[in-house]
Amino acid sequence: CSWLKGRFTLYKYQEAWNHEDWLDGEIFAQQNFIAHPNDVFLCSYPKSGTTWLKALTFAIVTREKFDESTSPLLKTLPHRCIPFLEKDLVRIEESHKNSSFLPVNTHLQYNSLPESIITSNYKIVYIYRNMKDVIVSYYHFMKEIVIPMENASFEEAFDEFCEGISSCGPYWDHILGYWKASLSRPKRFLFLKYEDMKEDPTSNVKRLAEFIGRPFTIEEEKANVIEKIITLCSFENLSNLDVNKSGKHRPEECNAVENRLFFRKAKDGDWKNYFTQEMIEKVDKLIDEKFGVTGLVLK
Ligand code: A3P
Repeated sequence: CSWLKGRFTLYKYQEAWNHEDWLDGEIFAQQNFIAHPNDVFLCSYPKSGTTWLKALTFAIVTREKFDESTSPLLKTLPHRCIPFLEKDLVRIEESHKNSSFLPVNTHLQYNSLPESIITSNYKIVYIYRNMKDVIVSYYHFMKEIVIPMENASFEEAFDEFCEGISSCGPYWDHILGYWKASLSRPKRFLFLKYEDMKEDPTSNVKRLAEFIGRPFTIEEEKANVIEKIITLCSFENLSNLDVNKSGKHRPEECNAVENRLFFRKAKDGDWKNYFTQEMIEKVDKLIDEKFGVTGLVLK
């Protein structure tokens, strides 16, 4: 476990020491989570578009109850709308009592998922994003929330990331774990690429809705429901809402993350403002080495 040694890991221990709920939360979820037949798991490596996927999924599954002017997304951080396996087990159990269908989010690697998920008839939506933008996004996020990261330089964060040291393990192992699992159960997985979603949100939102068993009807398409969901969940809209500009996620925690930190730039290619030529070559080489033979295309 080479990744259990970096600054990011310090953050996990710091949280665990303070709240007994982060590392413990992962283990607790692994040991106690019981998947229900209609659960859908939204899986991602941090900073790959999780917030966006959660908002879209929530808007899709609640569209019969709420529209773009009444959606709870207007007043609630998307992370509160869909529970996080590693921290919200009690809430998930409560929701399971009232609903046969529950989307649950996790950053766990595939091989760390609770046994009950693996043996269930699960559906997994996996969102991934190009490694260079993930590194930049991760650096900014961690720098603000992890006390030992405050003064870390981008170069330092970059080197750690490329060594595979980060809070959810190596980026490539995370993606490839899900990818390899999908080869034997392709119908259970939907892979969404952040960049593709930006380029063509309509067909990706349709794919998402169909996959989770909530396809849009012809009437809904005619009434522009898909476009309304895309606008509601757009970065421009969500990042300008009062709830997402202020306040904290899980305020009871001493390392509580400010809501605004989930919304930074949402630009493709921001890495160009940070990477030296040497960094570009290093990441390109890593991507070739790790993903070359898989057929997975990382833009
Ligand atoms: P940047 O740091 O590049 O701006 P995650 O949700 O997995 O933590 O990922 C965070 C990244 O997604 C951030 O990227 C953030 O700005 C971007 N993001 C947040 N909300 C988004 C949305 N509604 N649409 C597109 N990107 C979004």
